[in-house]
Amino acid sequence: MKFNAPRGTNDILPPDTLKWQYIEKKTHQIFSNYNYQEIRTPIFEYTGLFQRGIGEVTDIVEKEMYTFEDKGGRSITLRPEGTASVIRSFLENKIYGQAQPTKYYYIGPMFRYERPQSGRFRQFHQLGVEAIASNDPALDAEIISLGMRLLQGFGLDDLELHLNSVGCADCRPPYVDKLKNYLNEHQDQLCDNCKSRIDRNPLRVLDCKNKSCQSVIKDAPKITDNLCDSCTDHFDEVQEYLDILNLDYLINPLLVRGLDYYTNTAFEIKDNALGAQNTVFGGGRYNGLAEEIGNRDLPGIGFALGIERLLLSLEAKDIQLPVESGVDLYITVIGDKAKKESFKLLDQLRNQDFRTEMDYLDRGVGSQMKSADRMNAEYTIIIGEDELNNNSATIRNMKSGDEKEIQLSNLLEEMKKLVDKEDI
Ligand code: HAM
Repeated sequence: MKFNAPRGTNDILPPDTLKWQYIEKKTHQIFSNYNYQEIRTPIFEYTGLFQRGIGEVTDIVEKEMYTFEDKGGRSITLRPEGTASVIRSFLENKIYGQAQPTKYYYIGPMFRYERPQSGRFRQFHQLGVEAIASNDPALDAEIISLGMRLLQGFGLDDLELHLNSVGCADCRPPYVDKLKNYLNEHQDQLCDNCKSRIDRNPLRVLDCKNKSCQSVIKDAPKITDNLCDSCTDHFDEVQEYLDILNLDYLINPLLVRGLDYYTNTAFEIKDNALGAQNTVFGGGRYNGLAEEIGNRDLPGIGFALGIERLLLSLEAKDIQLPVESGVDLYITVIGDKAKKESFKLLDQLRNQDFRTEMDYLDRGVGSQMKSADRMNAEYTIIIGEDELNNNSATIRNMKSGDEKEIQLSNLLEEMKKLVDKEDI
């Protein structure tokens, strides 16, 4: 019998886990600079939350959800995204009774039954932010700049920011009618998928990459020409705030998102080096979502970034994150007595936050030294019976080859002098 990980899932192994830890650490740091606090919601929710929140006729709800009945006969779904859960939690815990706006972020796995390919998985990881209970366009710009800052923090500063406004409950329905009429007139040039979308979700047609559809789409009525006054003002102000921050963006009236809850601002950050799945993060306003799932009129805005895509983007640009696996000291032992004494020394060093290691396979000195090398040990020390008897041993810098004779009883003090604890 042989088991593989389920299709579309990945094991994240060392040393790659160090990159994930680095990304998460940096995220906590940068998000807290903007006063966003971490929220942790369940990995699964009742299915109805996503059906109502994301929208019945979206790809996610129609065909990508991991839905099952639990032993109590309830329909449960592994979360395909984080926003609906965050708003559910905000409403359920009556956070609206506290000072507003509320600024949350989350990091964790999401699940979508998609066709796996580069940058697209069935279990993937998002880090996302949500700012709830304010319609201030300054928050839209803050959220976007926060995402860009995060990417810059990882060394990515040449990505494209696409910006659109998808209107509101007043101006979108008449626009959608106009679009439907136009698409119906050009039905014969549309692919089968788009034909079926005209009635169900015509905005998604704007996203089709099919050549023939593209020729129809380019002359289709644009949402940005059909916004009501209040949406136009909001969109203008978002741009004004982005200008204040000197953030470059591209107005893209064809930008529609795959989830139905968006209103007003919608945005995506794209890395053209990534091929078909080139959106590193996307988001927007969802001023109707709280109403949809909890009968409360509360605006919100957020984005989510795919960590796997971020890593692919870094890889495509050959950017190395500053992570390093290794130990500060490897103790090479000769004989049982030295092993036991070294075991005690390791414990003392580890207690003082030194990363230390020794041999657990009764190997000879040569193999132990090879291990130290493979482990990226900064220093090694050989301890045998002689060293114990003389209270003296040689500590060696593995990079430079420099050696120093030290008193064994002083090992901790010597290590404090040798290793810059800042780096640990
Ligand atoms: P989304 O565009 O569906 O939005 O996903 C956000 C990001 O998650 C994508 O840009 C991509 O980087 C990553 N992603 C999505 N699906 C996959 C997949 N199958 N494999 C790998 N990465 C993937 C949302 O989820 C919204 N909740 C974002 C949001 C937050 N809007 C407002 N607040």
